[in-house]
Amino acid sequence: MNGEPTHGPTDETVPDTTPETDSATGGTGSAGHRLTAALTVGSRVVVRYRLAEGSESRATDFLGELVARNDDFVVVDTKTERVKLIRADVLAAKDVPPPASRPGRAHERISADDLELLMAKGWQAVDRAGLGDWVLRAASGFTGRANSVLAVGDPSLPLDKAIDYAEKWYADHERPPIFQVHGEQGFVVEDQPLPAALLERGYVVGGDFDSWRRVLVMTGLSAAVPPLTEESVPVTADAELTMDWLMAYNEQRSVVPGVTEAVLTGSEGQLFLSVRDPGTRRIVAVARMAIHPGWAGVFGLWVHPDHRRAGLASTIVSAVAMVARENNMPAIYLQVSGDNEDGVAFWRDLGFTVHHEYTYLARPAG
Ligand SMILES: CC(C)(COP(=O)(O)OP(=O)(O)OC[C@H]1O[C@@H](n2cnc3c(N)ncnc32)[C@H](O)[C@@H]1OP(=O)(O)O)[C@@H](O)C(=O)NCCC(=O)NCCS
Repeated sequence: MNGEPTHGPTDETVPDTTPETDSATGGTGSAGHRLTAALTVGSRVVVRYRLAEGSESRATDFLGELVARNDDFVVVDTKTERVKLIRADVLAAKDVPPPASRPGRAHERISADDLELLMAKGWQAVDRAGLGDWVLRAASGFTGRANSVLAVGDPSLPLDKAIDYAEKWYADHERPPIFQVHGEQGFVVEDQPLPAALLERGYVVGGDFDSWRRVLVMTGLSAAVPPLTEESVPVTADAELTMDWLMAYNEQRSVVPGVTEAVLTGSEGQLFLSVRDPGTRRIVAVARMAIHPGWAGVFGLWVHPDHRRAGLASTIVSAVAMVARENNMPAIYLQVSGDNEDGVAFWRDLGFTVHHEYTYLARPAG
């Protein structure tokens, strides 16, 4: 299937992992935000591969999950087989978005499972362990997403044993066990085997927090977000997390020193967007943009209460969408608590719709 090694890997096969953006943007001009994503193990990739001389065609493509890579080989699990490709015969390779699993536009056709897995990459816990397909996550209590079991797929153990295992893992990490389960909008938790088993063990929907009872995953098209205009306030997009940004972020939620920074900067790529008050020069609006093949994620969108309803959040999302459009990311996701009426109203106003929802199950404190 493959030819003899003839040359080393090209730049295309080893993309830069560092976003190049570190600039301010505003008005109608394009700031040229070219981002590159890493080919990381676990990504869905397409690999263009040189075929041996005499083959019918010069090259072929392999689409699947990248399961290993080193200087000599690239290993890909395709739908039908695991292929071990000689690195020197890899002509090009790139990350690709999760597959379409239902009809609809770019932000609608991804499955809820795949979107959950993608979003988890956009907000990485500090400690992670696999349990079959499940992912156990911990980050010193900083956010539910980074401190809960992502219960997607098969845990590879009978359900009760899988829950026992997860509870032990969290006890070892000195954290309470929390499970994140998802379903279509309005799903009934008792109808699913995992939450039903958790309820029997004394877990409750939402644990101690109303905001955890129902979290909406909303999606939209980057092309549908209104563009920046000459009148738009300037938005800064930094590849690096700055102290100023973190201090503004800290106004909306408490941070865990060291851990918050690790989670915020822990994805394959992210940008930190902000708007400053022109008078005081203080940051009054922030958001973090996660970067994926075909998708952008918005986290931590916040506007200072004194500056709301002046279009700042809309301008930040316009900047996110501009970067997304420039980098072949047609779809945008975000999570917003179902009890956050302002937040839901804001995203609906921008044309975003509910893709699915999730809830956390935890034992009440005490
Ligand atoms: C939600 C939030 C980010 C909106 O920021 P903002 O800068 O005030 O939003 P914008 O001025 O760009 O609003 C654009 C439109 O969204 C809608 N909208 C925004 N806030 C709204 C509210 N409180 N109630 C109803 N609609 C609202 C309106 O249609 C608004 O247009 P209008 O002002 O012309 O009526 C801000 O209220 C906030 O920081 N809330 C706390 C954090 C949060 O909830 N973040 C979102 C979680 S994903």
